[in-house]
Amino acid sequence: MKALNDCYTLSNGIQIPCLGFGTYNAKGGDNLAINRMAIEAGYRYFDTASLYETERVLGQAVRESGIARKDFFIVSKLWIDERGYQEAKDAFERSLERLRMDYLDLYLIHWPRGKEGDTDWKEKDLDTWRALEELYKSGRVRGIGLSNFLPHHVDPILKNCHVTPVVDQLEIHPGYTQEAAVRYCSENDIRVQAWSPLGRSAMLEHPVLKSFADKYEKSVAQICLRFLLQKGIIPLVKSSSMERMKQNQDIFDFEISWEDMSVINNMPQNTWLGEHPDFAVPRKKSNPEQ
Ligand code: A2P
Repeated sequence: MKALNDCYTLSNGIQIPCLGFGTYNAKGGDNLAINRMAIEAGYRYFDTASLYETERVLGQAVRESGIARKDFFIVSKLWIDERGYQEAKDAFERSLERLRMDYLDLYLIHWPRGKEGDTDWKEKDLDTWRALEELYKSGRVRGIGLSNFLPHHVDPILKNCHVTPVVDQLEIHPGYTQEAAVRYCSENDIRVQAWSPLGRSAMLEHPVLKSFADKYEKSVAQICLRFLLQKGIIPLVKSSSMERMKQNQDIFDFEISWEDMSVINNMPQNTWLGEHPDFAVPRKKSNPEQ
């Protein structure tokens, strides 16, 4: 990968840019301005979800950019309470309506299971997947996939599906590399994407990463992103500033050595900075009507 919008080929043959822009919870607050700025900065791959409540503004920013829809790569997701066969189909229509688009590049199941008590999560995920397969076959979404699915959540899908998931989006950053899940995905030809690739800023002060930032004359954020890129993982980076949006793309002119990659890979592992799919209660959607 040599530039921001260079692509990997997913298992179903479609092209996906190697670096994406995340639209979740922008610090600056004005999501429309942030999405406009990200397009201006050169990002074409945008990650949204019904949970984030950023679909409308993303759609508006894309339309207003004057750049053809086909030149963007737009990904959205259905939330926990949108799982189920008919529920998923309805959620897909609502996402397209909010985006004012007639297709998605990828559509993902956002979380594998709900809170305690969601005992039939496997059946629900399978019903949801059946709906996604039909949407895929209808041509309204170019690929279908998963988000926050660990191997034991992916396994029932792989055992029962007709269309395999092309991606799995996981929390991954230096200090939380999820080796077991990444290995499982790669064995099953599922491309991994990383949310919170900077560890929600928590990794930016890490002394090991700071020493590599000095060594390679880059920022710690660039070390985190380059580390993921060299592992073939797609970082979904968020920022509310043009300067940092540009800095985060400037990761193609250096290479972290094998030895330094190994040091980062083997840093002490911390924990999920977001939610764990099995052991924590995921956030509620604040405004399901949006
Ligand atoms: P900001 O919007 O002020 O740029 P993550 O994606 O791991 O959850 O981290 C997101 C946070 O990282 C955001 O709060 C963002 O803040 C910050 N951030 C993004 N890019 C950089 C960068 N290059 N340097 C420092 N902080 C960054």
